[in-house]
Amino acid sequence: MWHGRFKHDTAKIVQDFTQSLDIDFRMYACDIQGSIAHVKMLAQTGILKPDEAEKIEAGLNKVLDEINSGKFTPSIDLEDVHMNIEARLTQIEPLGSKLHTARSRNDQVATTTRLYLRERLLKIKDVLKILLEIILDNADKHKGAIIPGYTHLQQAQPISMGHYWLSWFEAFMRDYKKLNFALENLNECPLGAGALAGSTLPIDRELTSKLLNFTAPTRNSLDTVAQRDYMLDYHFFACEFALHVSRLCNDLIIWNSQEFGWIILPDEFCTGSSMMPQKKNPDVLELARGKTGNIIAQMLDLVINLKALPMTYNRDLQEDKRCLWQSIDTVESVIKILSALLEKVDVDEKSALATLEKGYSLATDIAEYLVMRGVPFRDAHFQTGKLTGWCIENNLKFSDLTLEQFKKFMPAADEDMLKILTPFESVKRRNIYGGTGFEQVALQINEGRERLKMLA
Ligand code: ARG
Repeated sequence: MWHGRFKHDTAKIVQDFTQSLDIDFRMYACDIQGSIAHVKMLAQTGILKPDEAEKIEAGLNKVLDEINSGKFTPSIDLEDVHMNIEARLTQIEPLGSKLHTARSRNDQVATTTRLYLRERLLKIKDVLKILLEIILDNADKHKGAIIPGYTHLQQAQPISMGHYWLSWFEAFMRDYKKLNFALENLNECPLGAGALAGSTLPIDRELTSKLLNFTAPTRNSLDTVAQRDYMLDYHFFACEFALHVSRLCNDLIIWNSQEFGWIILPDEFCTGSSMMPQKKNPDVLELARGKTGNIIAQMLDLVINLKALPMTYNRDLQEDKRCLWQSIDTVESVIKILSALLEKVDVDEKSALATLEKGYSLATDIAEYLVMRGVPFRDAHFQTGKLTGWCIENNLKFSDLTLEQFKKFMPAADEDMLKILTPFESVKRRNIYGGTGFEQVALQINEGRERLKMLA
């Protein structure tokens, strides 16, 4: 493409090193879509004659067919998808040599990538929505199941399993919002920014923007070819999503272990051991957890690439897509497998309750009961703490104690207090907005369904 300036051809070793075909060929359909919009604009503005534009467009569609049907094999001698398509077009239709009028690969790359990214992110939005629905369904299914809630991985207070699922509903809803933000930010059209400073030809940037369904042309041509913030916005979403997935997977892995034992994973999503016949391993969750590290690493890859790059385009930017694909492909597959698995996760309610029996997770309920009888919270806390310590020493549970024994530690205790000392009452009585009370969980599930319906 640039032999006019050079006496010697590019060295083979340099071609191999500098090509980007292996990472950008997957965007061929979007590249052609961008070129068709560009050529239509060139005709509208009188830069090309209408029949020239028609012939170029027909040629581009032919190239698209050839690629779709596997007839056209691109070559790394032509560096990237953009030059391969243009070269093939020009073989089919000599007027193809007019296509690159008022365009540089710098604005072309940015346009093609935004188009492709938009397609992929819309797909991710769809699958993420399905994941949200499944989580909400699980909340509904398990709203009556009581599990231990933890802080510091120590039994804290009983909670509804529905409430637990709702916590992930909130987290993934925030991710969804971030994803939408990324989609909004990428939706401006780079075409016309040229190499860096626009064009002397009378192009119409509004028109190409409209033809490609962007909201507007980008405002500054230098920024347009230099920036990759629209990719970073995706990576920020992916990073946060990955952190959420890693924590969710970890919970389920731990709660599924014999020591906890109240999460049941579907057989189809577990694997056995080649040596130990008794094993049922949560490999899918472990791999999902493992892959989240890779997703986060891809964000760092781009961040490091971009750091301190001079204005405007630099060839370093060619590497921006390698980490993007790696991240998107992984995110999409993780969402899909997680949805399929979560649909079949179950809770062993008996076993969850048995776990609670062993602990003292109703201690706060006792202290709060005393508060309602006028005892200052600090005193109530101290009295309940003393009682708990005594129970531990004597190997007793709260449910083993008589009212007299309670009274020794807390004079304000009465018959009614004994009635609230069950995990069921404990959950039920946390009836405040956002709390784990059954009524509140039901309310949040209903609100969640409405929020899902409203999702844009
Ligand atoms: N293959 C290059 C890329 O993907 C094309 C852009 C080349 N621009 C340039 N000024 N050399 O970034």
